[in-house]
Amino acid sequence: MLSELGFAIASHRDAFSAADLQHGFMLIAGDHFVPGFLADVLTGPWTAHLERVVLFGNRLGTRALAALDEIGFPFIVKSLPTPARLTSILAAIDPSMIAAGQSTIARLTATSSVIEAGSNRLFEHIRAGNLGAAVSEAKSAFNHFEALLDSAAATHWLSVIQQYHDGTAQHCSLVSAVAMLFARSLGFSEGDQRRLFEAAHFHDVGKVRVPLFVLDKPGSLDADERAIMETHAKAGYDILAHNDVIASEIAEVARDHHEYLDGTGYPRGIGGRRVADITRVITICDIFAALIEQRPYKQPKTAREAYSILQSLGGKLDPSLLRSFSKIAESCSPD
Ligand SMILES: [Fe+2]
Ligand SMILES: [Fe+2]
Repeated sequence: MLSELGFAIASHRDAFSAADLQHGFMLIAGDHFVPGFLADVLTGPWTAHLERVVLFGNRLGTRALAALDEIGFPFIVKSLPTPARLTSILAAIDPSMIAAGQSTIARLTATSSVIEAGSNRLFEHIRAGNLGAAVSEAKSAFNHFEALLDSAAATHWLSVIQQYHDGTAQHCSLVSAVAMLFARSLGFSEGDQRRLFEAAHFHDVGKVRVPLFVLDKPGSLDADERAIMETHAKAGYDILAHNDVIASEIAEVARDHHEYLDGTGYPRGIGGRRVADITRVITICDIFAALIEQRPYKQPKTAREAYSILQSLGGKLDPSLLRSFSKIAESCSPD
């Protein structure tokens, strides 16, 4: 919400810079302020650029408010407002900022709807055995995902994708978006970004052959159901391999994206060098996306929690890729 409205978000005073204060406003939100924090922030070198400060905090005591008032804190809202209330407060301060924020939100919402519909269509084409249409769908999806990544901060487009109703569309879109972000941060050429994107987009198409009582089960799977679910990797390969429209590496990623470098994955238990580089990238994006997914029956992990879980997997994942992925996890974290 805040960065949609044009605020730079920083979790620590050292992260603030005068350049962030494009509008001359500082907004501080939080329930727990360590002693001295506010005074410290309010006397920093950036205060020369400040016109107004807006402070939110449910647990600010009367004494703290009085003290802030004394040092000339002009705009204090004691409780954390709803987005609508926040918008109206900020609109009173600077309507142009609100207009810019609203157009960002509108752009993000429109792109996201196109992506959700495209992802649903992709699986319909696969179900109908129409690989040519699925490939065209993935090619135009690449452009929409580029627009999505450019339209807002990662935390925003992630939260929009996390609202997708269909779990498979949500997962496919999350893995694709995270893979695109990762490819950009690794400095991949546009050609390699497209290869990785396509691999992400198709990695789980084998799920069209998994019965819905397993695929949509609201809870964890038992051993038999897990075995059924695991067939999706080989099924994906069977769907995508041996044809003229899909590159063989895309089919191989679908088959191998649950393989681990220590040989404990499935379906073949291959390890080490037999796991291709492109698969190693997708596996990291896939696990990360699955952990942060929003489902009615489970609390999603935060991006930082998800990254800690990836780190705890020891020798299963490519260590240098995982190190590079820390930037992605950080940019997906709200503060
Ligand atoms: Fe999978
Ligand atoms: Fe997946």
